[in-house]
Amino acid sequence: MHRDEKLLVGTEAPDDAAIYQLDEERALIQTLDFFTPIVDEPFYYGQIAAANALSDVYAMGGKPLTAMNIVCFPCRKLGTEILLEILKGGSDKVTEAGGLLVGGHTINDEEPKYGLAVTGLVHPAHLFTKGGARPGDILILTKPLGAGIITTAHKGDMVSEEILGEMVRWMAALNRDAAEVARQVDAQSCTDITGFGLMGHSYEVLRASRCGAVFYLDRIPLVSGVLDLAEVGLIPGGAKSNREHVKEHVVLSRGIDDLWLDVLCDPQTSGGMLFAVRPEKAAHALELLQSKADTCAAAVGEVTADTAGKIILRKEP
Ligand code: CO
Ligand code: CO
Ligand code: CO
Repeated sequence: MHRDEKLLVGTEAPDDAAIYQLDEERALIQTLDFFTPIVDEPFYYGQIAAANALSDVYAMGGKPLTAMNIVCFPCRKLGTEILLEILKGGSDKVTEAGGLLVGGHTINDEEPKYGLAVTGLVHPAHLFTKGGARPGDILILTKPLGAGIITTAHKGDMVSEEILGEMVRWMAALNRDAAEVARQVDAQSCTDITGFGLMGHSYEVLRASRCGAVFYLDRIPLVSGVLDLAEVGLIPGGAKSNREHVKEHVVLSRGIDDLWLDVLCDPQTSGGMLFAVRPEKAAHALELLQSKADTCAAAVGEVTADTAGKIILRKEP
């Protein structure tokens, strides 16, 4: 394969986005994400899909510059009004992120799909990757978990409008403030929690950093009702396959209900950031995050010296 030293992050060590160095001070971030509707309201779907695509720029420590729509839509069947609402939601988030929506492409397709290709900038010396967490670091998560479980429950009409609304607000929230705080406290390792769930993405970080971790279950923020819904079996298929993939790396301490593994493997859509920070800076990070409306941050765990990437789940010591 052709190698180019300007390609700082590419397909060989896949991260949240690709990074291409332009000069001493600037590197280009490129990422693309799209998916099928996860909520009924087209405007919110657009907002969530855009926040999710923008998130990978934040997860690399950058700022979005421009974005382009990627749209698959059955225009004849659903009409253009719905499509316009989706696009409005998307452009709303790009504007909030300080970026510019500069174009896109639409094709006719039976099942709607929407997302963005985003271009951003980062200083090459200040970029976040997954590797770089060190033993003793504190792991901070910036949004509550529950997207897969709650949207699954919603399909079966098993969740209240209040809880669904809470989940939608979190999914539509930008990870901009979380990334800014991660930068302020010199986080060395950072990613966003999406389809592989908290456990899947944590394992990626730990494997890349050649470390392990302990997670304290009482501290993990969850959207209201998530444990109850999981208890009655509203676990999406994606959580099961995520669980299959990480189970050999995760140890449940004695007395921990197996249900927790389903919850921590629940696939998130536009989930929060997970970053590792030196222990002496963790309290300051949480303090800064507390004042931000788009975050609900908690110190959920601690990086350990286990080089095999083992994750231990336990209650507070
Ligand atoms: Co990502
Ligand atoms: Co992505
Ligand atoms: Co594996």
